[in-house]
Amino acid sequence: MRKPIIAGNWKMNKTPAEAVEFVSALKEKVGSVTEREIVVCPVFNALVPVSGVIKGTSIKLGAQNVYWEDSGAFTGEVSVSMLKASGCEFVIIGHSERRLYFHETDRTVNKKIKKSLEAGGLTPIVCVGERLEERENNTTFKVVETQVKEGLSGLKPDDMNKLVIAYEPVWAIGTGRTATPEQAEEVHAFIRKTLSGIAGEDVSNEMRILYGGSMKPENISGLMKCENIDGGLVGGAALKVDSFVKLINYE
Ligand code: PGA
Repeated sequence: MRKPIIAGNWKMNKTPAEAVEFVSALKEKVGSVTEREIVVCPVFNALVPVSGVIKGTSIKLGAQNVYWEDSGAFTGEVSVSMLKASGCEFVIIGHSERRLYFHETDRTVNKKIKKSLEAGGLTPIVCVGERLEERENNTTFKVVETQVKEGLSGLKPDDMNKLVIAYEPVWAIGTGRTATPEQAEEVHAFIRKTLSGIAGEDVSNEMRILYGGSMKPENISGLMKCENIDGGLVGGAALKVDSFVKLINYE
């Protein structure tokens, strides 16, 4: 059984005080939910205060990015061990906004994944997904296959089931235009088949593949009924406690 993950990607939103206020309210409502894995991903400087508030609850902490060196002269970067020391168990890697605005490539995504797994204890949420023109050119499968294969290149099968994939069609992110359950499931099934080619069927069947892109309380149930959709990476609808709680409690 793959336990569903509902992860909030707050992007560049919420000061530390606002983040603390959010998780203080969240833990009252869902702090003891265990049948779903709940993850919040605040900005770096809110990690430590948020981690203090969620300690002892079932809510887990994730970062939105990481660098692959341990320490040193890398102005503006944060290492795996620093994230772990801040209470993180998850890290989002290769989000489409990072690929678009910060020149991340499958090669840098690969280095970040390897470092997160090597150091242990930090679960990468690896984002893949096609842009609108790629979908319109019928290259969705090719694009996603390349991102998965290159991003995960050189990983040991033993390490593969320690990571989570998020399929986020770029045209659906922050646009209010969600992929239909059929559109999403088609790509999720394809990703699982690709993972099976890399690590074998048993491992790929254990791996969780999240959907992201305008997921909200109104559309989560339809998406979660799909065989290969194991949760959501949610932006806009994760910024308000009420809607995030509704997402966590989807039926
Ligand atoms: P969205 O963002 O839910 O606002 O579309 C999802 C994401 O970018 O992870």
